[in-house]
Amino acid sequence: MAKKKAATKKRGTNGATKNDVGLIGLAVMGQNLVLNMADHGFSVSVYNRTTAKMNEFIEKCEAEEPSANRVHGYAKLKAFVQSIAKPRKIIFLVKAGRPVDMVIDELLPLIDKGDILIDGGNSEWLDTIRREKDLAAKGINFVGSGVSGGELGARFGPSLMPGGSKEAWKSLGPIWRAIAAKVDKKTGAELQGAEPGKPVKGGETCTAHLGPDGAGHYVKMVHNGIEYIDMQLICEAYAILRGLLGMKPDEISKVFEDWNTGELSSYLIEITADVLQQKDPVNKRKFFVDSVLDAAGQKGTGKWTAMNALDIGIPANAIGEAVYARCLSALKEQRVAASKVLKGPKVKVIKSNRKKYIDMVCDALYCSKICAYAQGFQLMAEAQKEYNWKLNFGEIAKIWRGGCIIRARFLQKITDAYTKDKKLQNLMLDPYFKKAIHGSQDNWRKIVSMCAEHGISAPAFGSALAYYDGYRSEVLPANLLQGLRDYFGAHTYERVDKKRGQFFHVDWPDPKRPQYKV
Ligand code: 6PG
Repeated sequence: MAKKKAATKKRGTNGATKNDVGLIGLAVMGQNLVLNMADHGFSVSVYNRTTAKMNEFIEKCEAEEPSANRVHGYAKLKAFVQSIAKPRKIIFLVKAGRPVDMVIDELLPLIDKGDILIDGGNSEWLDTIRREKDLAAKGINFVGSGVSGGELGARFGPSLMPGGSKEAWKSLGPIWRAIAAKVDKKTGAELQGAEPGKPVKGGETCTAHLGPDGAGHYVKMVHNGIEYIDMQLICEAYAILRGLLGMKPDEISKVFEDWNTGELSSYLIEITADVLQQKDPVNKRKFFVDSVLDAAGQKGTGKWTAMNALDIGIPANAIGEAVYARCLSALKEQRVAASKVLKGPKVKVIKSNRKKYIDMVCDALYCSKICAYAQGFQLMAEAQKEYNWKLNFGEIAKIWRGGCIIRARFLQKITDAYTKDKKLQNLMLDPYFKKAIHGSQDNWRKIVSMCAEHGISAPAFGSALAYYDGYRSEVLPANLLQGLRDYFGAHTYERVDKKRGQFFHVDWPDPKRPQYKV
């Protein structure tokens, strides 16, 4: 049974008889966020639809300090709401979509004007805009906040990306700032507490108020789009090292370990090294990766990023390619059948100069990564116009330096780039990144062409390179495209010798339709 603490006892940081904050949804992320808040001195009311699960969690909390005195379970939603100090801050971590609306509907009759509801799931930003508007009309603050970092992030310091009103941020800020990951101000390296659960002292916190309504969830969605492409690039690098150089997973693991000491240093590179050296728990003679079916899953945030890029006309092709690569992988049975009938070049394993080729793959990975981030930031730059936000890109890169899945040394350079030039049009134009691409592009090009030559599918490497070459092209063949559109559909065209925005049309002759005059 959920045990209720004496109502007169002082709780958490507010020095009152009520708890500082409430949380609904005690799956692992929710539980860990609660423990993280308790570590930082906040008293937390918790509620879960399945009471047995909550009781189990409360028992676990009661077994240890500091959660023993700071986490309080309530079997009834009304009692849960009443146990929270006003203005109430109620976080929920439930599945995106309908479940979020259901939680809001259940809470509405129980809460008061000025209370703050915080959706910490991966909700679509348009839903968040809608919910914020509806609730604001009722006097309720609604915050859509990205929470990144998986289970461990939630427990010891996630990256938190909140949107919503400034008023809501005033109340939520102290909690979010306390529990978020902390990084060294200069290097961006993540800081650790003296031991797990011990709050980190000093450092910059990986959260900031990103803007009104859906801004937080939008930024989190782009974070996930970048997460998709980061992982796809890693997988392509692995495929090249394996296919072209004939390396075994544990050898490739060492390469990633080495890359993790340089410019590519990041959480995803670090865990790739771990996964690749792992042996299959069922058959210890095999590498784990060889026992995993090559059919990727996805929950939708990468797809939303790519779809929104198409909607607002921003070429985020590498991010889109990462989504398509997952879709292609999922067609496992078709690929198996096609592998038996569709011919390609036979991969010739390169036996000499391994180090040279590994360095080339490293360069290709780094350049592609710069392009992918350039696309993500450009997407946010366009979206802010659409939704009336004023996103601070330096700040966004800053709060991604620690806690989240895409945390990387590289993000410090992005922070620096946007701090120097707030209006930077494209990350590739920043002097640091421009120099990096200039220095490494020869190898990038060689790797892309070697993949084509040897029949290794590396869509993200290739697509990022096409983006780079397209972006730096003064003239693209879209002139011909416009001519064709004007020919068959009178869609008109702009001229190189006239100001933008003036449209022209040619009365095209059609030899097969003589009734049209020249
Ligand atoms: C994070 C992650 C997380 C996401 C998973 C699953 O920032 O902690 O982005 O929010 O839900 O990574 O994503 P897919 O199942 O779509 O790969």
